[in-house]
Amino acid sequence: MNIKKAVTDFPIQPALADRWSPYGFKDRPVVEAELCSLFEAARWAASSYNEQPWNYLVATRADPREFARLLACLVEANQAWAETAPVLVLSVVSLRFSKNNQDNRAAVHDLGLAAGNLSIEATARGLSVHQMIGILPDKAREVYQIPEHFEAWTAMAIGYKADPATMPAALKERDLTPRQRKSLSEFVFTGHWGKPSPIAVKATA
Ligand SMILES: Cc1cc2nc3c(=O)[nH]c(=O)nc-3n(C[C@H](O)[C@H](O)[C@H](O)COP(=O)(O)O)c2cc1C
Repeated sequence: MNIKKAVTDFPIQPALADRWSPYGFKDRPVVEAELCSLFEAARWAASSYNEQPWNYLVATRADPREFARLLACLVEANQAWAETAPVLVLSVVSLRFSKNNQDNRAAVHDLGLAAGNLSIEATARGLSVHQMIGILPDKAREVYQIPEHFEAWTAMAIGYKADPATMPAALKERDLTPRQRKSLSEFVFTGHWGKPSPIAVKATA
Protein backbone atom coordinates (compact mmCIF):
# COMPACT_ATOMS: atom_id res chain seq x y z
CA MET A 1 0.00 0.00 0.00
CA ASN A 2 1.23 3.50 -0.88
CA ILE A 3 0.76 5.50 2.33
CA LYS A 4 1.49 8.80 0.53
CA LYS A 5 -1.07 8.44 -2.25
CA ALA A 6 -3.75 11.13 -1.99
CA VAL A 7 -7.06 9.85 -0.63
CA THR A 8 -9.33 11.92 -2.84
CA ASP A 9 -13.03 12.80 -2.52
CA PHE A 10 -13.22 12.98 -6.32
CA PRO A 11 -11.20 11.25 -9.00
CA ILE A 12 -8.05 13.05 -10.21
CA GLN A 13 -5.28 12.14 -12.63
CA PRO A 14 -2.95 9.43 -11.25
CA ALA A 15 0.19 11.60 -11.32
CA LEU A 16 -1.56 14.26 -9.19
CA ALA A 17 -2.54 11.70 -6.56
CA ASP A 18 0.88 10.04 -6.59
CA ARG A 19 3.00 13.20 -6.30
CA TRP A 20 4.49 13.96 -2.90
CA SER A 21 7.60 15.64 -1.55
CA PRO A 22 10.16 13.15 -0.22
CA TYR A 23 12.94 13.93 2.26
CA GLY A 24 14.99 10.92 1.19
CA PHE A 25 16.47 10.16 -2.23
CA LYS A 26 18.12 7.08 -3.69
CA ASP A 27 21.77 7.29 -4.65
CA ARG A 28 20.79 7.04 -8.33
CA PRO A 29 21.53 9.69 -10.93
CA VAL A 30 18.86 11.16 -13.18
CA VAL A 31 19.82 10.81 -16.84
CA GLU A 32 20.04 14.08 -18.76
CA ALA A 33 17.22 13.20 -21.18
CA GLU A 34 14.85 12.71 -18.24
CA LEU A 35 15.89 16.01 -16.71
CA CYS A 36 15.34 17.74 -20.06
CA SER A 37 11.80 16.34 -20.17
CA LEU A 38 11.12 17.92 -16.78
CA PHE A 39 12.27 21.33 -18.02
CA GLU A 40 10.31 20.76 -21.24
CA ALA A 41 7.18 20.29 -19.11
CA ALA A 42 7.95 23.56 -17.32
CA ARG A 43 8.53 25.23 -20.69
CA TRP A 44 4.99 24.51 -21.81
CA ALA A 45 3.29 25.99 -18.76
CA ALA A 46 0.83 28.80 -19.37
CA SER A 47 2.02 32.26 -18.34
CA SER A 48 0.62 35.76 -18.31
CA TYR A 49 1.23 37.34 -21.76
CA ASN A 50 3.32 34.23 -22.49
CA GLU A 51 6.16 35.96 -20.63
CA GLN A 52 7.64 32.65 -19.37
CA PRO A 53 9.27 34.33 -16.35
CA TRP A 54 10.93 31.13 -15.09
CA ASN A 55 14.70 30.45 -15.21
CA TYR A 56 16.60 27.57 -13.68
CA LEU A 57 20.11 26.95 -12.41
CA VAL A 58 20.84 23.22 -12.29
CA ALA A 59 23.48 21.21 -10.47
CA THR A 60 23.94 17.46 -10.30
CA ARG A 61 26.01 15.42 -7.89
CA ALA A 62 28.03 14.26 -10.92
CA ASP A 63 29.66 17.71 -10.64
CA PRO A 64 30.44 17.99 -6.90
CA ARG A 65 31.72 21.57 -7.11
CA GLU A 66 28.59 22.91 -8.80
CA PHE A 67 26.42 20.82 -6.50
CA ALA A 68 28.09 22.32 -3.42
CA ARG A 69 27.64 25.86 -4.78
CA LEU A 70 23.91 25.35 -5.24
CA LEU A 71 23.49 23.48 -1.94
CA ALA A 72 25.05 26.47 -0.16
CA CYS A 73 22.16 28.63 -1.43
CA LEU A 74 19.66 26.60 0.66
CA VAL A 75 18.89 27.26 4.34
CA GLU A 76 20.65 24.81 6.66
CA ALA A 77 17.49 22.85 7.49
CA ASN A 78 16.99 22.14 3.78
CA GLN A 79 20.67 21.44 3.13
CA ALA A 80 20.48 18.66 5.72
CA TRP A 81 18.19 16.47 3.62
CA ALA A 82 18.55 17.95 0.11
CA GLU A 83 22.23 16.99 -0.05
CA THR A 84 21.15 13.38 -0.74
CA ALA A 85 19.28 14.38 -3.92
CA PRO A 86 21.08 13.73 -7.21
CA VAL A 87 19.82 17.00 -8.70
CA LEU A 88 19.28 20.47 -7.25
CA VAL A 89 17.57 23.29 -9.11
CA LEU A 90 17.35 26.95 -8.18
CA SER A 91 14.28 28.66 -9.64
CA VAL A 92 14.79 32.30 -10.57
CA VAL A 93 11.87 34.50 -11.56
CA SER A 94 11.93 37.53 -13.81
CA LEU A 95 9.76 40.14 -12.07
CA ARG A 96 9.44 42.58 -15.00
CA PHE A 97 7.93 42.10 -18.46
CA SER A 98 10.74 41.87 -20.99
CA LYS A 99 8.79 43.98 -23.56
CA ASN A 100 8.13 47.10 -21.45
CA ASN A 101 9.99 46.65 -18.15
CA GLN A 102 6.68 46.94 -16.21
CA ASP A 103 6.08 44.88 -13.04
CA ASN A 104 4.70 41.44 -13.84
CA ARG A 105 2.22 40.69 -11.03
CA ALA A 106 1.75 37.17 -12.38
CA ALA A 107 5.44 36.27 -12.41
CA VAL A 108 5.55 34.28 -9.16
CA HIS A 109 2.22 32.66 -9.96
CA ASP A 110 3.65 31.53 -13.30
CA LEU A 111 6.87 30.25 -11.71
CA GLY A 112 4.67 28.10 -9.47
CA LEU A 113 2.65 26.87 -12.40
CA ALA A 114 5.85 25.82 -14.20
CA ALA A 115 6.94 24.01 -11.02
CA GLY A 116 3.58 22.22 -11.01
CA ASN A 117 4.09 21.07 -14.60
CA LEU A 118 7.62 19.94 -13.84
CA SER A 119 6.55 18.03 -10.71
CA ILE A 120 3.77 16.17 -12.46
CA GLU A 121 6.03 15.26 -15.41
CA ALA A 122 8.53 13.97 -12.85
CA THR A 123 5.90 11.88 -11.05
CA ALA A 124 4.73 10.35 -14.32
CA ARG A 125 8.36 9.30 -14.92
CA GLY A 126 8.85 7.74 -11.49
CA LEU A 127 10.85 10.74 -10.25
CA SER A 128 10.10 12.97 -7.26
CA VAL A 129 10.46 16.70 -6.69
CA HIS A 130 10.68 18.43 -3.31
CA GLN A 131 10.20 22.19 -3.66
CA MET A 132 11.76 24.63 -1.19
CA ILE A 133 11.11 28.24 -0.23
CA GLY A 134 13.91 27.94 2.33
CA ILE A 135 16.71 29.38 0.24
CA LEU A 136 19.20 32.21 0.64
CA PRO A 137 18.29 34.63 -2.20
CA ASP A 138 21.11 37.10 -1.47
CA LYS A 139 23.67 34.32 -1.44
CA ALA A 140 22.25 32.97 -4.71
CA ARG A 141 22.49 36.42 -6.31
CA GLU A 142 26.13 36.64 -5.33
CA VAL A 143 27.07 33.07 -6.29
CA TYR A 144 25.37 33.16 -9.70
CA GLN A 145 25.53 36.88 -10.49
CA ILE A 146 21.75 37.05 -10.84
CA PRO A 147 20.84 40.36 -12.48
CA GLU A 148 18.56 43.08 -11.14
CA HIS A 149 14.79 42.41 -11.52
CA PHE A 150 15.42 38.66 -11.34
CA GLU A 151 14.97 36.91 -7.96
CA ALA A 152 15.99 33.47 -6.79
CA TRP A 153 12.61 32.42 -5.37
CA THR A 154 12.58 28.69 -4.69
CA ALA A 155 14.62 25.54 -5.16
CA MET A 156 13.84 21.94 -6.03
CA ALA A 157 15.47 18.66 -5.05
CA ILE A 158 14.88 16.07 -7.76
CA GLY A 159 15.55 12.36 -7.81
CA TYR A 160 14.21 8.89 -7.07
CA LYS A 161 12.64 8.68 -3.63
CA ALA A 162 14.44 6.53 -1.07
CA ASP A 163 13.04 3.47 0.66
CA PRO A 164 12.20 4.96 4.10
CA ALA A 165 13.76 1.89 5.75
CA THR A 166 17.16 3.20 4.62
CA MET A 167 16.63 6.72 6.04
CA PRO A 168 17.60 8.32 9.38
CA ALA A 169 14.73 8.16 11.93
CA ALA A 170 13.68 11.84 11.88
CA LEU A 171 13.41 12.02 8.10
CA LYS A 172 11.97 8.54 7.73
CA GLU A 173 8.95 9.50 9.85
CA ARG A 174 8.13 12.39 7.50
CA ASP A 175 8.29 10.10 4.48
CA LEU A 176 5.90 7.67 6.18
CA THR A 177 3.27 10.20 7.32
CA PRO A 178 0.05 10.22 5.28
CA ARG A 179 -0.66 13.46 3.41
CA GLN A 180 -3.40 15.79 4.73
CA ARG A 181 -5.52 18.37 2.92
CA LYS A 182 -8.39 20.75 3.70
CA SER A 183 -11.78 19.70 2.37
CA LEU A 184 -13.27 21.50 -0.65
CA SER A 185 -15.81 23.29 1.62
CA GLU A 186 -12.92 25.05 3.40
CA PHE A 187 -11.70 26.82 0.27
CA VAL A 188 -14.41 26.73 -2.41
CA PHE A 189 -16.93 29.50 -1.65
CA THR A 190 -20.07 30.92 -3.23
CA GLY A 191 -21.93 34.15 -2.36
CA HIS A 192 -19.51 35.62 0.16
CA TRP A 193 -16.10 34.98 1.58
CA GLY A 194 -16.00 31.90 3.77
CA LYS A 195 -19.44 30.55 2.78
CA PRO A 196 -18.86 27.05 1.45
CA SER A 197 -20.13 26.69 -2.07
CA PRO A 198 -23.16 24.38 -2.30
CA ILE A 199 -21.21 22.26 -4.76
CA ALA A 200 -18.47 21.74 -2.18
CA VAL A 201 -20.94 21.00 0.65
CA LYS A 202 -22.74 18.42 -1.43
CA ALA A 203 -19.38 17.01 -2.36
CA THR A 204 -18.29 16.27 1.19
CA ALA A 205 -21.76 15.32 2.61
C1 LIG B 1 6.62 26.68 -2.88
C2 LIG B 1 6.95 25.58 -1.89
C3 LIG B 1 7.92 25.77 -0.94
C4 LIG B 1 8.28 24.75 -0.04
N1 LIG B 1 9.31 24.94 0.81
C5 LIG B 1 9.76 23.91 1.55
C6 LIG B 1 10.97 24.06 2.30
O1 LIG B 1 11.65 25.09 2.29
N2 LIG B 1 11.37 22.99 3.04
C7 LIG B 1 10.68 21.80 3.07
O2 LIG B 1 11.11 20.88 3.76
N3 LIG B 1 9.56 21.64 2.33
C8 LIG B 1 9.08 22.64 1.56
N4 LIG B 1 7.99 22.48 0.77
C9 LIG B 1 7.27 21.19 0.75
C10 LIG B 1 5.92 21.30 1.44
O3 LIG B 1 6.11 21.27 2.85
C11 LIG B 1 5.01 20.14 0.96
O4 LIG B 1 4.74 20.31 -0.40
C12 LIG B 1 3.69 20.10 1.74
O5 LIG B 1 3.92 19.75 3.09
C13 LIG B 1 2.72 19.12 1.15
O6 LIG B 1 3.31 17.85 1.09
P1 LIG B 1 3.35 17.02 -0.28
O7 LIG B 1 4.09 17.86 -1.30
O8 LIG B 1 4.10 15.75 0.07
O9 LIG B 1 1.94 16.76 -0.70
C14 LIG B 1 7.59 23.49 -0.10
C15 LIG B 1 6.60 23.31 -1.07
C16 LIG B 1 6.28 24.33 -1.95
C17 LIG B 1 5.24 24.07 -3.02
